[in-house]
Parts: sequence; C-alpha cells; structure tokens
Amino acid sequence: MKTSVKLLLAGIASLGFLAGCGERPPVETVQVGYRGTGMEQVYNPRLLQQVAAKNQIGNIQPAADTSGPLAKDIYQNVQVLSDLSIGEFTRVMLSMTEWVAPADQKNCTYCHNGANYADESKYQYKVARSMLKMTRDINSNYQAHVKNTGVTCHTCHRGQPVPSYVWFTDPGTGREKASIGANAGQNTPVTALGTTTIAHSSLPFDPYSPFLLGDQPIRVETTTALPSGNRSSIKQAEWTYSLMVHMSKSLGVNCTYCHNTRAWGEWSESRPQRTVAWHGIRMARQLNNQYLVPLTNTFPDHRLGPTGDVAKINCQTCHQGVYKPYFGQSMAKDYPELQRAKPMPEVAPAAEATEGAAAATDAEAQPAATPAAPAAKSAKAVKPVRTTLAALNVAG
Ligand code: HEC
Ligand code: HEC
Ligand code: HEC
Ligand code: HEC
Repeated sequence: MKTSVKLLLAGIASLGFLAGCGERPPVETVQVGYRGTGMEQVYNPRLLQQVAAKNQIGNIQPAADTSGPLAKDIYQNVQVLSDLSIGEFTRVMLSMTEWVAPADQKNCTYCHNGANYADESKYQYKVARSMLKMTRDINSNYQAHVKNTGVTCHTCHRGQPVPSYVWFTDPGTGREKASIGANAGQNTPVTALGTTTIAHSSLPFDPYSPFLLGDQPIRVETTTALPSGNRSSIKQAEWTYSLMVHMSKSLGVNCTYCHNTRAWGEWSESRPQRTVAWHGIRMARQLNNQYLVPLTNTFPDHRLGPTGDVAKINCQTCHQGVYKPYFGQSMAKDYPELQRAKPMPEVAPAAEATEGAAAATDAEAQPAATPAAPAAKSAKAVKPVRTTLAALNVAG
C-alpha cells in the first residue's frame, strides 16, 4: 500500500475514534480564570439542554397561614416541626408526599399508619423524621456551602423515595486484597456493584468511603522542593484523583472550575468555588455520619448495600450533574418551614469569611493532620459561568 493511502486510512480511522467520544461539535468554552492559565470550562449546549430539563425545581405549594395554633399543641407526637402552625405543618406533609413518596403511593400512608397518624411503626416515618432534622440542619448550619440557596427534600429526592444518586461501600471484586496481584482497587472499571464512578478509568473505584465517610487526607502534594516529611504515595494521589473525578462529574465541570492546574494544591491560585467544595466535602461526610449511618438498623434489609451499609450521600445526590443544584435556583426560600420557621437572612453571615481567614495560616501545612480550612478568595477577574448559562438560555 502506498504511504499516502495508509495515511488516509489512518486519518479515517482516527476520525472514527473521535466520533466514539460521543460529543460532536460545536462546544462552547468559557474562560473562568486569568488568561493563559487554561482555566476554561467546556460546555456542549445540546447536552446542557438535556441536563437543564432534568434540573427544574419542583412544584411550590401555596404559602401557608403562619398564625393559628401550633401543630404540636393539636397533635400527639410532633417532635421536629414543633414551631409550625397547623397550616405550615400540613403544607410540609403535603409537600413531603409529593417529593418523596413513590409514584404509585403518592399518599400519606407511605409513611403513616392510616389508622393512627401518631404511630411510629413504619420505617419511612422514622427515616422522614431524621430527614426533617437533617434538612433543617443543612439550611441553618451549612451556609458555608449551601449559602442562602438551601435545600428541600426535593433537592435529593426529586419525587422518588430513593434519590437517583446514592452510594454504598463497594465490596469490590476481591482482587484488591489478594496476596498476589493485589490491585488496590484499581483497574476495576465496573465493580461488584456495577458502578462506573470513575468513568471507566483505572483509578480506585471507591472514592467515597475514605473521604465522604472516613476523613482520610485528600491533599497529597508536597509544598517544598526538597523532601520534608510528606509521605503521601502515588497510590494515595490516585485515590484523591478518584474523588476529584467524582466531584467534577457530579457538578458537570472540568477540573479548572476549581483549580489552576499549574498548582493543584495552591489555594491562592484556586477559584473561590474550591473553598465552597472544601466545605461540601466536610458537609457530605458529616451528614453521612450524623444522619444516614445511625439509620442503618431502621432501614429494611432490601434497602441496604452488599456490605450491610446504608445508602449514603455524595456530591451528586444534591448536584445531579449541575454546578449548583437546579442551576442555583432556590426552592428552599419558598419553604421557611424547613429553615426553623424563620425567614432566610438577606446576606450570608459574615462569620464565614472570618472562619476562612483565621484558618488560612496553616492552610498550606502539608500533609495536614487535621485539614485546615482554606482561605476565602476574592472572585475578581472571574467571569461567572452563570451568565453564560443564561446566555445559552438554560439557566432556568
Ligand atoms: C415522607 C413521610 C411522610 C409523609 C408522606 C407524610 N407524613 Fe405526616 N408525618 C411524618 C413525620 C416524620 C411526622 C412527625 C413530624 C415531627 O416529629 O415533627 C409526621 C406527623 C404527622 C402528623 C402528626 C400526628 C401526631 O398526632 O403526632 C399528622 C397529622 C400528619 N403527619 C399528617 C400527614 C398527612 C395528612 C399526610 C399526607 C398529606 C402526611 N402526614 C404525609 C412523615 C410523613
Ligand atoms: C441531602 C440529600 C437528602 C435530603 C435533603 C433528603 N433526603 Fe431523604 N434520603 C436521602 C438518602 C441518601 C436516603 C437513603 C436512600 C434509601 O432509602 O435507601 C434517603 C431516604 C429517605 C426515605 C426512605 C425511603 C425509602 O423508601 O427507603 C424517606 C422517607 C426520606 N428520605 C424522606 C425525606 C424527607 C421527608 C426529606 C425532607 C424533609 C428528605 N428525605 C430530605 C437523602 C436526602
Ligand atoms: C468543585 C471543585 C473541584 C473540582 C472540580 C476539582 N477539585 Fe481537586 N480539589 C478540590 C478541593 C476542595 C481540594 C482539597 C480537598 C481537601 O483538602 O479536603 C482538592 C484537591 C486536589 C488535589 C490535591 C492537592 C494537594 O494539595 O495535594 C489534586 C491533585 C486535585 N484536587 C486534582 C483535581 C483534578 C485532577 C480534578 C479534575 C478531575 C479536580 N481536582 C477537580 C476541589 C476541586
Ligand atoms: C445537601 C446538598 C449538597 C451536597 C451534598 C453538596 N452540595 Fe454543593 N451546593 C449545594 C447548594 C444548594 C449549592 C448552591 C449554593 C449557592 O447558591 O451558592 C452548592 C454549591 C456548590 C458549589 C459552588 C458552585 C459555584 O459555581 O459557585 C460547589 C463548588 C459545590 N457545591 C461543590 C460540591 C461538592 C464538591 C460536593 C461533594 C463533596 C457538594 N457540593 C455536595 C448543595 C449541595
């Protein structure tokens, strides 16, 4: 065969290979950092339309009458929503039914014993009570992450009893622990649970258990030119990358949404979003340990994972492929009932900035025994992606 023909064939073959990537042009790029740093987001408007369609806020029930007697004074067993008027309380019950009960049981008896509403025997009732506490906790105590946007049950559930994105500890294939040929959780693109979390790469397949349940160190880079005691291994770095792939995928963004890739670990060169993500990691970990794990024995066996663990939260549980759940639209602002019945403050509490600044001094310490909070960064010279999404007419 002539060289030119060979080249032509090679050319055609590589076109076929590219087509296999599944994203046909045009794509749009948005600059999110200083020019020359390659801090760009790549969006495919067609895929974005599909994501946008799936990320609409739910139905908002008409606001309830806040006067009137408190539900706790009328009913027998109100423990969490004790500050709500009877109208507000009923509004929450109606909304929860819509947000969480399965399509074929959209009624109160999904959680309640219809003969006695104070009865606690159904597991759904017990879980829902914990979830009410958790939702109020997120909205009142995790503003470093959720700001005033907040969450409702719908943020995770979207009309179904089990949110679309939850995780269990994956038992793996057994090869990770083998005495010969142990693979440390790598090269297992599809595992026992059928998960493909790390996008069919050879990275460790369970980025959740070490970081979103345990608090293994995530930062692995050395900050000095000469060896200075950082014992992090390449294996540890690969676990970090696994988590980062999960985070990027959950938010539908590239690594440069948060990092300047010339210095992954450097907070002063990162976007403010990285600080928000830092808080998100701690929040997800805390929610799993404080609310989900203690419910393990409450759930029936068929809801538990292969190792007997409860379904847990990761970034995708709320984000569902978008940089902010519902592209930043707040559903929670219309549900003061889920914010301890007080209206949401107009501005984020100033405490957040101080907290970041106070911890900034040891933020660079490596490896951090207890991770230090990153310093809050100014958003200057950063074009907000939201504007572009609005231009694409998908920001809702
Ligand atoms: C997702 C589960 C869930 C659904 C669906 C649900 N509830 Fe509830 N309900 C609860 C929980 C949890 C409590 C306890 C709240 C608390 O402790 O503050 C409760 C408490 C109540 C109470 C107080 C009973 C008492 O005497 O203590 C009434 C009344 C009630 N719900 C009515 C309803 C009605 C009416 C519907 C349907 C429109 C409904 N609920 C749907 C979970 C649910
Ligand atoms: C941050 C995400 C998140 C939020 C917010 C949230 N949930 Fe859940 N919920 C979960 C996860 C994770 C599970 C475990 C999935 C399972 O049931 O196996 C769960 C399970 C449940 C279940 C058990 C369903 C079943 O059949 O197994 C009920 C009932 C429930 N949630 C009610 C609520 C209610 C009511 C709210 C709002 C007050 C709420 N949730 C808010 C994440 C969330
Ligand atoms: C949503 C924001 C976000 C995205 C997207 C993101 N990261 Fe990260 N990254 C972080 C945060 C936050 C930390 C620090 C975590 C901690 O200390 O708890 C981090 C830490 C790291 C570290 C360790 C740095 C050190 O100090 O050792 C590396 C390496 C890294 N990320 C690589 C990546 C790669 C590769 C991608 C894309 C696949 C990515 N990140 C995407 C937020 C992000
Ligand atoms: C309980 C639900 C929930 C979970 C879980 C969650 N987030 Fe978020 N996140 C939110 C909400 C709500 C916002 C919007 C806050 C706002 O309006 O600025 C947000 C905002 C963000 C932002 C800011 C985006 C921007 O453009 O300003 C980043 C980055 C982020 N989340 C990363 C993460 C990561 C990484 C995880 C997992 C470790 C995570 N989130 C888990 C609810 C959640």
